[in-house]
Amino acid sequence: MKIISMVSAMQSLAIQTRQKCRCIGFVPTMGFLHEGHMSLVRIARNKSDIVVLSSFVNPVQFGPNEDFDKYPRDETKDDMLCEREGVDIVFRPSADDIYTNDHSVYVEEEKLSTGLCGKFRPGHFQGVLTIVAKLFNIVQPHVAVFGGKDAQQARVIEQMVRDLNFPVEIIIGPIIREPDGLAMSSRNTYLSQDERKRAVNIYVSLCHARRLYEQGVRNTSVLRGKIREIIETDVQPSEIEYIEAVDYTTLQPVTIVQNITLVAVAVKVGRTRLIDNILIP
Ligand code: PAF
Repeated sequence: MKIISMVSAMQSLAIQTRQKCRCIGFVPTMGFLHEGHMSLVRIARNKSDIVVLSSFVNPVQFGPNEDFDKYPRDETKDDMLCEREGVDIVFRPSADDIYTNDHSVYVEEEKLSTGLCGKFRPGHFQGVLTIVAKLFNIVQPHVAVFGGKDAQQARVIEQMVRDLNFPVEIIIGPIIREPDGLAMSSRNTYLSQDERKRAVNIYVSLCHARRLYEQGVRNTSVLRGKIREIIETDVQPSEIEYIEAVDYTTLQPVTIVQNITLVAVAVKVGRTRLIDNILIP
């Protein structure tokens, strides 16, 4: 396994790899890897000859009061997991190499990124799209794999790829959960023991909404109401940012479940912001 830190070295290697007609699969991450990331690596592995995993905590996608400074890092463990999973290249650039002092170009999406997390994290998706576009130009993947937990992120990236004609196939991997159901996230490490126990009820609330749907409930305010009730009682969050039911394609709120509906929540448990979602049907 190669570990590359220079943008120029990564881009040259990508060009050489493409010249040899080898398919590049790409998993962009911010490091502190877990089984969720590894599941994306396996998807990339099945679709390509060379798997590149990038590890870069992207400053421009964090707001001024967010957790950029304390975002967890463990490069040794990350490298071990990547080696074990057969990643070919770990690309771990420095912020200075990625963003020159006078960089002034950003990628902006104007519709899908305005609701859900976009409403509570102004500038976040501009930061995500800018780094993903840059990474696509550096790594030059044929296929890129993103996690389904960040459903809005995945949709916004799909839209960028379509609207800006990036020659990259986007694959969205399923959410990987802890045995008790909590969606895996690098941020779970912030949770105290008690917060961790309560956090599992986020998924419990989503499962409850799914059961109501299976029993015939189609009104999304009923589904959202049940989720809120369980979250308020059993998660006891410090803040509920949103509990939304949106059309999966447009990310616009829906009152009745007809097409594929994304039921998504963002809550703060203590100081930790957690997101989760299900798709129904
Ligand atoms: O999902 C993430 O880890 C990040 O938002 C991404 C896509 C790697 C961009 O920094």
